[in-house]
Parts: sequence; C-alpha cells; structure tokens
Amino acid sequence: MAPAIPFLPTEASEEKTLRPSFVRDEDERPKVAYNQFSCEVPVISLDGIDDKASGRRQEICQQIVAACEDWGLFQVVDHGIDAALVAEMSQMAREFFALPPEEKLQFDMTGGKKGGFIVSSHLQGEAVQDWREIVTYFSYPLRARDYSRWPDKPEGWRTVVESYSEKLMQLSCKLLGILSEAMGLDHDALSDACVDMDQKIVVNYYPKCPQPDLTLGLKRHTDPGTITLLLQDQVGGLQATKDGGKTWITVQPIEGAFVVNLGDHGHYLSNGRFKNADHQAVVNSNCSRLSIATFQNPAPDAIVYPLAIQEGEKPILDEPITFSEMYRRKMARDLEIAKQKKLAK
Ligand code: SIN
Ligand code: FE2
Repeated sequence: MAPAIPFLPTEASEEKTLRPSFVRDEDERPKVAYNQFSCEVPVISLDGIDDKASGRRQEICQQIVAACEDWGLFQVVDHGIDAALVAEMSQMAREFFALPPEEKLQFDMTGGKKGGFIVSSHLQGEAVQDWREIVTYFSYPLRARDYSRWPDKPEGWRTVVESYSEKLMQLSCKLLGILSEAMGLDHDALSDACVDMDQKIVVNYYPKCPQPDLTLGLKRHTDPGTITLLLQDQVGGLQATKDGGKTWITVQPIEGAFVVNLGDHGHYLSNGRFKNADHQAVVNSNCSRLSIATFQNPAPDAIVYPLAIQEGEKPILDEPITFSEMYRRKMARDLEIAKQKKLAK
C-alpha cells in the first residue's frame, strides 16, 4: 500500500478555514501585519570591510557592534555574494516546493533522518504546527554531507547549494572575525570557539494561508547557534522584538540583503553583551513566501562559555558546557514551557 501523504500546508491553501492543529493561543498570534515594515533594524554596507588601512573596517565594526547590542539583528548589503548565485538558489528552492508531494516526500526526514524535506515542523511535545514546509541541507563540515539526503530536484540544485553554502561560510567567517575584534579578542577567536564550524541550510516555504492572524509560519524563538544568515524574498514576514520583547516589528525586506541574527551561542560567548535575536515568521493570505536560513553553529562538543568578561561583570553561565548540552537544556526548557501551557488550559 502506498504510504499516506501527510497533510501539506500547500494542499490546504485553497481551504477557507485553518485546521485546528495550526491555530495558536491568542498570546502567540501575530501582533503586527506581515507587510507593515519597519526600517529600524540597521542595514550595514560591508563595502570596504577588508580594507584595514582606511578606517572603513573600524566604522563597519562599530555599526555591527551597535546592532548586536541593540537587536542581535542587522541586515548586510554589499556583502560580495554574487547576485546570480543568490537568484539561482531562490529559484531552485521555489521549483522544489512546487513539485508534487510524492516527489518532495522522497526526501522525507521524519523519523530522525539527517537532512531532507519535512512538513510543518514543530517542537516535540507541542501540539500546534508551524505553517511551513522546509528542506534542510547539512553542509559543513564536509564529512556531514550525506548526499543521499540532499534533494537533487530540480536538476542541478545540489551544485548550486554547494556553491551557496561555501560563499555563506566565507561571509560568516568574515562577520565572526569582526565580532571577535569588537570583543577585544583575536580575529579568529569566535571561529576557534566553534572548533569545526557546522553549517545547516534550512529552506522555508510558507504557503498562502486562509487565516494568517490565527497562526505562525514559524513560532517565536532564538536561534541556538553562533550566527544565522537569512535570505528572504520581497514578501515580508520576519518579525523581531524590541523593548525587551514587548514590541514586535516586521523586518523590511531588501533585495539581495542577508539578515544576520545572533544566536544563543554568540550571546553566551559575548557574556550577554550581544543579544540573541528574538524572532518569528508570520504568513499571509495573499501570497507564499520563501526564506533561506543558513545556520552557523559550533561543533556539538565545542565549549560554550563567555570569551570576554568585562571588569565587574559576572559570567552569564555557571559553568562551561558543550554546545550539545546547551541545546539539550534549551529544548528541555521549551518543552517544560509547552507542558505548563497545556496544563494551564
Ligand atoms: C528562521 O527564523 O529560521 C526563519 C525566519 C523567516 O523565515 O523569516
Ligand atoms: Fe530563526
């Protein structure tokens, strides 16, 4: 018997009402529209970043530091990544999600498989689903590449992903170098703290949604890793908080820009000086949206502990722990919150 095809948000986009499994509690629902854009998140040009003599690098460094202290979030332009490569990556991603469900499900990664396609991922133990489909590539270290889990449809996508992941790794290392210098450390301090840096690419497809006010494309969270580089199309839907989590804003999409997020690892290493961006993705009823998140994470056994503790400050972690332990504790906390929420209902 052919396996049952799980419910895909894509298939539901013609439905008029949202299935109950996607309906969020009122306090989790979007507060701001997907296209009510704010220009508050800093947009930083990296033009001249390698020019150590001109003072331009210093200027960029100061802008990045200010953005990390205020938001843990900024956009970069003039980053040197070929626009044609970025366009090709986005185009191939769109073509993948347009494939019939049976084809996408050839790469189904439910059941703990590393990499592939998944529908409406959601936290274990949590009842409500995200309104999205994703496809994931584990791209670094090179030995993590299991090509049997890399969708190669549409034809040639694998080659494009390889090139894209290499260029984004280079850009991430550049940004980590700047952040290390900003913390008064050696250029390589943050990269070294990641040991053998992992990279995971998650391509998100958010279909049109019949009742977007009741649901989320991706639930509120902070990223666990060091930094994330997010490419988004012009639709809009990435939202972040300010004022200590009280106010939501929708990040203005900028053609060709990458949104850079600081994750928990980056936050801990800076002893809390740099924020871990608190963010979510909302959906809409007019059109689908595509985003491509490149997560730069430390190796699982890399040690997480502040690298720079200013005079008079206390370390924000009680003890050095491994990144996998940090992640385990984060998941346990999230699960506990979900459990408490269920009990309170
Ligand atoms: C993410 O947080 O990984 C994705 C956010 C987005 O799609 O805007
Ligand atoms: Fe995220």
